[in-house]
Amino acid sequence: MNKKNIEIVADSGKLAGRAAEKFIEIANQAIERQGAFTIALSGGSTPKKLYELLASQEFSEQIDWAHVHLFFGDERNVPPDSDESNFKMANNAMFSRLNKLPETNIHRVMGEESAADAANDYEQKLKDFFHNELPRFDLILLGMGPDGHTASLFPDSPALEENVRWFVENWVEKFSAYRLTLTFPVINNASNVMFLVAGNDKTFVLNEVLHGADNKYPSQKVNPLKGELLWLIDQSAAGEKG
Ligand code: 6PG
Repeated sequence: MNKKNIEIVADSGKLAGRAAEKFIEIANQAIERQGAFTIALSGGSTPKKLYELLASQEFSEQIDWAHVHLFFGDERNVPPDSDESNFKMANNAMFSRLNKLPETNIHRVMGEESAADAANDYEQKLKDFFHNELPRFDLILLGMGPDGHTASLFPDSPALEENVRWFVENWVEKFSAYRLTLTFPVINNASNVMFLVAGNDKTFVLNEVLHGADNKYPSQKVNPLKGELLWLIDQSAAGEKG
């Protein structure tokens, strides 16, 4: 794993604030440099506060949303109105509150399709957008589960070894369900990858991932060779007394 950039903040609220600052910094640099900012959003619960903050007046006015293209790092194999849907969470927390974000800039995974169709459709969307070049996202947001998974790359799941396809359906035994996820070739080609990790249920695995033996957990395979990797963690996940 390349040099680890680790920032520890007091709590999940401060985590959202720091992540929003980094988001805006990276976005404006990308828009300045190339006229667009491409990001793959993470799901779950941790990023919700970040998305709400980005949609607030204080932060939303700092970005020209017309140049922002929002993708998903992973999605559940469910319809967009399901409470399980990462799109639904991001839409409620952010998209629906941004009146200057064109609908066409939101690139949703069609989770309502069969897992294979949803994955193939999304990979085609990526190919169309990135002109058949391996996507190099300006920013990929990632979370980490207590089992060390990231995106929907779970321990012992087939997608961990996928090094050709960009976006796949991934069978997750413990859920007896498919998840839909970016693969490591895309994640590790990003200009910036930012993990957001909060909560004391992550303390043990985070310590293992950051300081333990390599290659035990999927999150340890995140290693953007031509990009920056930032771990934004709160004190409880870091095992520090708050
Ligand atoms: C998902 C996420 C997943 C998430 C981790 C952490 O679809 O659930 O993309 O990888 O980031 O499971 O989830 P929490 O933020 O809810 O702890």
